[in-house]
Parts: sequence; C-alpha cells; structure tokens
Amino acid sequence: MTTQDYINREEKYGAHNYHPIPVVLDRGEGVFLWDVEGKRYYDFLSAYSAVNQGHCHPKIVNALIEQAGKLCLTSRAFHNSCLGEYEEYITNYFGYEKVLPMNTGVEGDETALKLCRKWGYLKKGIPDGKAKIIVCQNNFHGRTITIVSISTDPDARKDYGPYTPGFVTIPYNDIPALEKELQDPDVAGFLVEPIQGEAGVFVPDEGYLKNVSQLCKKNNVLFIADEVQTGIARTGRMLACDHENVRPDILILGKALSGGVYPVSAVLADDDIMLTIKPGEHGSTYGGNPVAAKVAMAALEVVKDENLAENAEKLGKVFREELLKVDSEMIGLVRGRGLLNAVVIRPRNGKTALDVCLKMKEYGVLAKPTHGHIIRFAPPLVIDEQQLLEAVSLIARSIKDFD
Ligand SMILES: Cc1ncc(COP(=O)(O)O)c(C=O)c1O
Repeated sequence: MTTQDYINREEKYGAHNYHPIPVVLDRGEGVFLWDVEGKRYYDFLSAYSAVNQGHCHPKIVNALIEQAGKLCLTSRAFHNSCLGEYEEYITNYFGYEKVLPMNTGVEGDETALKLCRKWGYLKKGIPDGKAKIIVCQNNFHGRTITIVSISTDPDARKDYGPYTPGFVTIPYNDIPALEKELQDPDVAGFLVEPIQGEAGVFVPDEGYLKNVSQLCKKNNVLFIADEVQTGIARTGRMLACDHENVRPDILILGKALSGGVYPVSAVLADDDIMLTIKPGEHGSTYGGNPVAAKVAMAALEVVKDENLAENAEKLGKVFREELLKVDSEMIGLVRGRGLLNAVVIRPRNGKTALDVCLKMKEYGVLAKPTHGHIIRFAPPLVIDEQQLLEAVSLIARSIKDFD
C-alpha cells in the first residue's frame, strides 16, 4: 500500500473530524518518526505535547508490557494493587493531598469543573444552582459539550448548542477583568491555561499567574490550572505555574503524564476540595486502572531521571534564538517558553503556514499550523542540541524556499 492508499482508506471509513498533514506514520523512536515508505522525520509536534519523553520510551513501554501481562482493568468496583502506589507517588511528586485519576485531558477538565462546583456549594456556600466559573477567551480545554460551551472558537462550538450555563468569559492575561468578575460572590473558580497552547502559544505577562493566584485566594475562589499541554516539563519547569512559584488549588494533567503511551489524566487537589466528591458522584471505568498507574509512574520517573525540564529550558532558548536569526519576510514573530514555541507566519505570494508545514514535511520535519497562520513547534524533550540545530536548519530552509 502507498501513502495515498492509507489516506484514502481513512477518508472512506473514518469520520472527517480531522484534516491531517498527508503523511502516514508507522514507527517512532525518541525524536524521530518514520512513515510507511521508510522516510524519517523530526517530530516537532509530539502529539500535541503528549510525547515529551520521546516516542516509545523503553522504560514506559516496558511498564506497559509488564503490567498488561498481569492485570489490565478491574474497574473501581474493586481495589487494585497498583492504584494506591500511584496515588502516593503522584501526590508526593506534585505536592497535593489527593489525586483523582481519569483518562483524557478533557475528562480532567470536566472533573475539575465538577469539583469546583461541589466545593462552591458545599464549602463556599453558594446558593444551589448559582455557581459560576470564570474562563478565558481563546481557551482550549477539549471537546465535550460543556467544554465547547466555554470555547470562543466558532469551529469548536457551532451547531453543538444548547450550551452549558454557569460560565463567565474574560480576556486572557487581563487582571482587571478578572478582578471585576471576582466581585461576584457566586464565583467558585477560575479555569486558566498558564500558557494558551492551542490558541497559538500565548505566554501571559510576567506576574500574571502570581496575580491570579493572589486574587483567587483573596476572593475565596479556586484557581484551576489546566496544565494538560504545558505540564510535565514542556515549558522548562515541571509545571508552567512553577515559573511564577504559584500552586493552583486544582491542577489538571494529561498528555505527557503517560509519555504518549496510554491515555492517562489526573486532577490534583487538597482534601478540603477533593473530599467534597463522595462515592458514586463521579468516576470512570478506566480511570486509575493498573496499566495507567504503572505507565504514569514510569513516565514521571523518566522526566526526573533524564532532566527533561532543564533540557527544555536550555534548548527552548536555543530554538528561539536560532529561529530569530532566520532572515525571512514570512517570520512575523517567534514566541514561547521552554520547548513550547510558535512562529507566526506572514503569508507571502499566497503561501501560508500550511504550505510551510508541507514543505517542512518534504525536508523531514513534522509540525501543524494552528489557527491558519501560526505554527507550533514542540519536539520531544529528549531532543539534543545537535538534533535541534539540524531541525531548525530544515525549518529555515522550508520557510526561505518561499522568499
Ligand atoms: C490545555 C488543554 N486541555 C485539555 C486538552 C484536551 O485533552 P484531550 O484531547 O486528551 O481530551 C488539551 C488538548 O490539546 C489541551 O491542550
């Protein structure tokens, strides 16, 4: 079968809810991917920051294989011999009293919103049915009905109404707007990405997260950080919130929590918040299963053992410096933190960010445009400097081809 045969089959039998770059991947190792025709690529997307530890990391894959041969799933109707170990491990790792295990990022967000509302009614004393949660314009938290209800992206929302009520939307990176909405005593929480990833890697002003944390505390409102994309060393710290030394009341993790090996997400909080949910009030058949528990522990160990946060911090600087040196009219802006970066592409001679990505594919680098004119660059954090420089030269060549 050729690449086109694979693509045609997906087109014929699969829903058309994605528009992939036309490459059919067959194998991955570390920072590299190979297509069905044997061509090698640098992965500069990392499955939207899920594969921070590199493709098929042997330690994580071995954890999966070992546990899969022993016990995969019990549901939470019974205890299993891995869950408690994982819960102890991850709560110590991130410094919270409790964890609630789920599978996908959006389930983590949904869990956080439910926890926040519960806390609002049971602890803050908000009148029944009145709780509000503040969210940001241009957010991305996933795809469920409630999460698209709080999206401001027409593609994510249109024709999915009626929308879930109980949310207030403010601009991102806008402290006065937050301050104003926090005056409302029915506000239970503020949900925010420490860096807006999907929107195009928007890094807020320095001090934003610190202000958010202080204002939420002052107004008895929960600060909920969605670190599904920014967490697990991606931005040069274990959490993006660590750049400002702030600790969210509710922390949502996903993606690289499993190193891309298995769907694992987690919500972390202290007892005062977490214990508002009682048995039977929330859950998931697969959440906290033995394979997920072992995979997540291995994935988190790799992040520490291999100093991935330090590598992301160091090579992120190199990446931005090198890209800024590229002399091309098409490069509008380079921004990011650690190895979560974006380049704003100025269309030239009718050529857009998508054309640049297709050209990069030809030269052996994979990335995808977001919102038409932005290319996000997020390689696995195991990349070394020589690999990074080679990839940057291929990216530069792709852009300069249109000059
Ligand atoms: C910040 C953020 N939250 C949540 C999600 C949703 O994660 P999932 O696709 O695993 O549901 C994403 C996915 O890109 C994300 O970037």
